[in-house]
Amino acid sequence: MAFAYRAGVLCAEQVSLEEIARQFGTPCYVYSRAVIEGNLARFSAALAGRRSLIAYSVKANSNLAVLALLARLGAGFDIVSGGELARVLAAGGDPRKLLFSGVGKTEAEIEQALRAGIFCLNLESEAELERVATIAARLGVRAPVAFRVNPDVDAKTHRHISTGQKDNKFGVAYADAERAYRAAAQHRSIELVGIGCHIGSQMASAAPFIDAAARILALIERLARAGIELSHIDLGGGFGIRYRDESPAPIAEFLDGALGVLAGRKEMLIVDPGRSIVGDAGILLTSVEYLKPGESKNFVVVDAAMNDLIRPALYDAWHEVRQVRETESAAAAGVYDIVGPICESTDVLARERELAVRPGSLLAVMTAGAYGMVMSSNYNTRPRPAEVMVSGGRATLIRERETVNQLFAAERLLP
Ligand code: LLP
Repeated sequence: MAFAYRAGVLCAEQVSLEEIARQFGTPCYVYSRAVIEGNLARFSAALAGRRSLIAYSVKANSNLAVLALLARLGAGFDIVSGGELARVLAAGGDPRKLLFSGVGKTEAEIEQALRAGIFCLNLESEAELERVATIAARLGVRAPVAFRVNPDVDAKTHRHISTGQKDNKFGVAYADAERAYRAAAQHRSIELVGIGCHIGSQMASAAPFIDAAARILALIERLARAGIELSHIDLGGGFGIRYRDESPAPIAEFLDGALGVLAGRKEMLIVDPGRSIVGDAGILLTSVEYLKPGESKNFVVVDAAMNDLIRPALYDAWHEVRQVRETESAAAAGVYDIVGPICESTDVLARERELAVRPGSLLAVMTAGAYGMVMSSNYNTRPRPAEVMVSGGRATLIRERETVNQLFAAERLLP
């Protein structure tokens, strides 16, 4: 257990979160290197013996130290912007293991990706195909591409993070895929290398993922009959993790299912997990500012807010909240809503939690390693938190806390 109590104090690996708060301040994201490595190893083990690529989805947590760690372990990367491309390269990632997804790639981003020599552009429309073909021809290169196909499978997850059904903006419609591939095959500046899909995030059951694999395979067979051979299949990410009492299917169940569907096929299998690599590896450490008992509700006001972790406000997401000190002296026990200082009613990190705390107590918002820091903002002119990576007995600052001056340094007064 990477986050466990030792002598009554919650620790990240062997470092107490009290020590981290003293050294780096709060609010602060804290990650466990061992958990990230263990999560990646689960994917590697499940895919052992199969030609495969684990392309970590950078959007989940894009800190350079996280990317560098994964790059050293041999991971590839799934990116969605020129900014993420620059990050991966800065962290020492291998461009030949890079897939570029996203519905709105700009000309500059496509050119940047082709110049970097990335493994594959995942095209999401026929309009994008035309744009990529033109740019590749101008640069005198062949652009390696795959289409992201929308398999019209219900991932059975929150509607905001479900992506593989007909009414989503993502991917080429299943019925149009063959036409898109035939159009691509006409372009000399295009090299068709694969096919992909991604049906949604935080999937609890493996069944939709395996259904999608089967639908993609049927399409591959149809394309082969049309003379279009592909060398990889990218099944996306979306493997669910436990936030509360969910029991998502283990990674091996998703992957064994897909490997079963693809048995006997020679294509390289690619997955792009994000949350399942970093989600349970991170917490948001925050300090109690005030207790605010009320008539119908009691509040704990903390120094972290929705700008630091927006998942509860945006998706009604549930994050466990633990006291860093298991039993706090002079504490007021109660059932509290844990809220931040931002002037919005949705600035609630957690509702109705039993705590015994006092001002100055530290709290850990658990399972915040994915879509935490990356979705943070500066709303209310709040500098973004520091990030710390723990490995064994050592805590390293991997991103400094922002300063208020940095927040307005790029702004200009009218002349
Ligand atoms: N591949 C593609 C093409 C994606 O769009 C995504 C996530 C992933 C992979 C990684 O999915 P994961 O393995 O992390 O589930 N902000 C939301 C999640 C948005 C996911 C967007 N796409 C949240 O906080 O729950």
